[in-house]
Amino acid sequence: MTSKPIYISRNTARKHEAVMTGKNTIISGATAGVGKETARSLAKMGSNIIFATRNKEKTLNTITEIRDEIRDDTVRLEYKHLDLMDLDSVRNFPTLLNDYDTIDVLINNAGVGHDTGVTEQGIEKTFGINYVSHFLLTKQLMPLLLKSKGRILNVTSMGHSTAKRKHFDMPFKGACPGMTPQQRYSRSKAAQILFTKALQRRFDQNHICCNCTSLHPGGVRTKILDNQTWGTTTIIFMLRPILVDPPEGARTSVYLATRDRPQEIGGKYFYYGLFRKGIYEKPGSDLVNDEALQEKLWEISEDLVGEEFRVA
Ligand SMILES: NC(=O)c1ccc[n+]([C@@H]2O[C@H](COP(=O)([O-])OP(=O)(O)OC[C@H]3O[C@@H](n4cnc5c(N)ncnc54)[C@H](OP(=O)(O)O)[C@@H]3O)[C@@H](O)[C@H]2O)c1
Repeated sequence: MTSKPIYISRNTARKHEAVMTGKNTIISGATAGVGKETARSLAKMGSNIIFATRNKEKTLNTITEIRDEIRDDTVRLEYKHLDLMDLDSVRNFPTLLNDYDTIDVLINNAGVGHDTGVTEQGIEKTFGINYVSHFLLTKQLMPLLLKSKGRILNVTSMGHSTAKRKHFDMPFKGACPGMTPQQRYSRSKAAQILFTKALQRRFDQNHICCNCTSLHPGGVRTKILDNQTWGTTTIIFMLRPILVDPPEGARTSVYLATRDRPQEIGGKYFYYGLFRKGIYEKPGSDLVNDEALQEKLWEISEDLVGEEFRVA
């Protein structure tokens, strides 16, 4: 594993542009922050972008903004409705993709911060939006991803490192008042990495050439930082000068969506440095590397969505 930052040279970026032309990329939460800038960068490289989003007006405005900038009518930029609060919306999503034969990249990016409440199916809201709906979305899109040997990116957080094993013994249904908002967020972010590793293991065991990778986008000045508890807000306020703007926050997603030899990033966790800027490969916490917990979470997830998830 490298501890040196990874830099992308201009030549490498140009090569990626060629690679992305005509590719189909789905991005959840592409109306704001990291997701919007990821969409902008990949569209500039020629990738078609499917905006998997819940707010039609906001999405159409985003599409117009990016369309005006790229001035390339061959690039498809499309809104497809997805509300991660509702598993029925996730289940319905593939029916909106009838005119796509394959999906090359799925970026599970949308997320909420220190939120309270439950989803339509009664799942704790942070866990439901950040993780469970993306688990089901990935399952639903697997036939299209398999056709293109596609790659999946899970946008998680360095905040995963404060999740504890006991949090995975606590309820996933109901508002979970026994956990603090920070604990609910870190559990959801740890779940994304546990899922990444469990899914990659299934790909490897079945000799499937798809890849699943997780990443922390950095400390990024976005709306999600407004939705935090008092303690975290104070820390964010102090760190504000060294946080990055959304275009830089999109760099890790763009790099992992476009880089060559995707088999080398499968199952791994990448991190955009807070103090030393750059993309690093990191092991993640001990918890997310626990294979037994990865498998336990897979069963819990199947139970929560009421469906078995088999990759082959
Ligand atoms: N910013 C950071 O410093 C930071 C650090 C670590 C990890 N992250 C992760 O980066 C990802 C992107 O966050 P961001 O910073 O870009 O935040 P953001 O600007 O608040 O964007 C969040 C996106 O998620 C979407 N979303 C929220 N609830 C949704 C739902 N029920 N259904 C569909 N979409 C929904 C939002 O859509 P609407 O526009 O419709 O609200 C928005 O597009 C998140 O997974 C976050 O955990 C961010």
